[in-house]
Amino acid sequence: PEPLKVLGKRKGINIGNAIGGRYFHDPAYKALMARECNMLVAENEGKWQALEPRPGQYNFGPADAMYAWAKEQGMLVRGHNLVWQEAKWLPKWVNEYDFGAQPAKAAEALLRKHIVTVCEHFGSAIHSYDVVNEAVDPKTGGLRSNVFTERMGAVEQIDLAFRLAREKAPGAQLVYNDYMRGDEGSAKHRAGVLKLLHDLKSRGTPVQALGLQSHIGSWDDISTSATYQQEWRKFLDEVTGMGLDLLITEFDVNDRKLPADVKTRDAGVAALARDYLDVTLSYPQCKDFLMWGMADNVSWLQGWDEAPRTDGQKMRPTPFDAELRAKPLRDAIA
Ligand code: G3I
Repeated sequence: PEPLKVLGKRKGINIGNAIGGRYFHDPAYKALMARECNMLVAENEGKWQALEPRPGQYNFGPADAMYAWAKEQGMLVRGHNLVWQEAKWLPKWVNEYDFGAQPAKAAEALLRKHIVTVCEHFGSAIHSYDVVNEAVDPKTGGLRSNVFTERMGAVEQIDLAFRLAREKAPGAQLVYNDYMRGDEGSAKHRAGVLKLLHDLKSRGTPVQALGLQSHIGSWDDISTSATYQQEWRKFLDEVTGMGLDLLITEFDVNDRKLPADVKTRDAGVAALARDYLDVTLSYPQCKDFLMWGMADNVSWLQGWDEAPRTDGQKMRPTPFDAELRAKPLRDAIA
């Protein structure tokens, strides 16, 4: 079959994958990615925690190696992410930082140093940045707090991150990335994201696109629920109405509610994907599709114990199986 990137090119859509450090040295997996994709994102290696594990001690090596390989292969690179708003994903030392007598100033200086250092280091290698990741609390729709927001204000801090990124990565697309979904349980999350985007736009903040993480799953009962599709369209209409582009940044399909039988399960996963992608990719503003892992064995979901399968079976959330054979999900994407 024709590579996904060839099919994508015909539609003006980039096809990408998140590669994890543990699989970056697997030649077969890399060959699969190079065949199917023209875009790369590092699964973890571009995060603050990975880049600066201790204050002032930078570790750019792993991300540099991935981005260099991407360049060799003619792939575009997405930077993920400059700021992960949820406190538990900030480096420990940032959470314990002494902000001194002028905390607002010190917080701004720390944020500035991080964004400036990272953007200057990677320079024009980055085609698109997740400037801010997951700032909206899905439970309330309000903005999450962390050491920066507590000292600077949340909208102010997010605004500053985008302005700094614009200044220091003038050629990169600037994205707000989050995991809101179309289902009823995600209504507050969607409303909060819309409010944030409206607030940023009204301040003239240089946000250019919304990253739709798209960790979809069998709880997103898309095929049987017209409401889901309506709500999701309404949401995407409002986002694109603000002049923002869309990206699918972290696609996979959680199969924990689908039957154990592999054939049935793979068909169910593919059907969920088809319904989701038919709606989401119908927006011409959606120009990038990135998988969060391409083979079942590499998926982060295998190790995610918040919601495992209850039958002890391994998840099958990606387009290729552990032997790198294409599954029905690959056809659905194609
Ligand atoms: O590399 C260490 C290893 O040395 C150590 O033995 C092991 C023990 O826990 O941890 C390994 O690091 C883990 C790393 O993944 C690599 O596998 C971290 O603990 C673990 O927290 C980390 O999880 C990542 C998670 O983000 C948090 O950064 C997942 O791989 C990654 O898939 C996930 O990706 C996120 C996106 O960034 C944002 N959107 C949601 C998405 C899925 O949760």
